[in-house]
Amino acid sequence: MRELVYYVATSVDGYIADPTGAFDAFPVEGDHMAVVLDEYADALPGHVLRALGIDPPGTRFDTVVMGWNTLAPALAAGIDSPYPHLRQIVASRQDRDVAPAVTLTHDPVATVRALKKETGRSIWLCGGGELAASLLPEIDRLVIKRNPLVFGAGIPLFGRAPYAPRPFTPVSARAFRSDVVIEEYVAARAGGNAGGDPRQSSPSPAPTLTACASR
Ligand SMILES: NC(=O)c1ccc[n+]([C@@H]2O[C@H](COP(=O)([O-])OP(=O)(O)OC[C@H]3O[C@@H](n4cnc5c(N)ncnc54)[C@H](OP(=O)(O)O)[C@@H]3O)[C@@H](O)[C@H]2O)c1
Repeated sequence: MRELVYYVATSVDGYIADPTGAFDAFPVEGDHMAVVLDEYADALPGHVLRALGIDPPGTRFDTVVMGWNTLAPALAAGIDSPYPHLRQIVASRQDRDVAPAVTLTHDPVATVRALKKETGRSIWLCGGGELAASLLPEIDRLVIKRNPLVFGAGIPLFGRAPYAPRPFTPVSARAFRSDVVIEEYVAARAGGNAGGDPRQSSPSPAPTLTACASR
């Protein structure tokens, strides 16, 4: 079954953006960018891919799901289809006008469940925090780019989700010279997986904690 992957950048204290919604404090230079520009190039916006002369690899994601507040800055910049190489789905509780290439959903949980039944590559949960809170039970994998900054305040990774501990199994943590750490976890679901997900039918992978370079 296709996975829903929350691939997102955070501060050390778990904020995905500052209180105004900006995240330009996160470093965009350094050796961790090889992961961003290579492994996760499918998650780069179309205008960034064009500027860098990169073709989307089409290996990681074929669909992106985002909340309205995550699309809104692109709209304000005149970009109504930020990820034209992906199937784009935006969640809103309102009737909003969107570009033909973007699908609006009022029920992102049902939409994601339906998408998971289709064949294809993984579904990227772009964010933001409020949508991630709604989709938390559907998240199969977390890929967190943890930046070496404490924000103190901002938009949390899971918005205002209520306290409800949910186990995730660490798969890897890659530390970079830039001091960014990319952590990956898979959802640890009780009772295995009737749908045949290989992650659930085999023993949990042992965590591999890899410091790719020492300072
Ligand atoms: N650091 C990163 O990697 C990263 C990634 C993504 C986003 N961000 C940042 O995160 C911020 C946005 O996060 P956010 O938490 O404020 O907002 P968000 O989750 O992007 O969007 C919230 C909006 O999405 C819609 N929505 C959310 N849950 C829904 C549900 N269950 N059903 C239907 N519609 C739903 C609603 O839209 P309506 O109001 O239209 O009803 C809601 O107001 C932005 O500043 C963005 O730049 C950062």
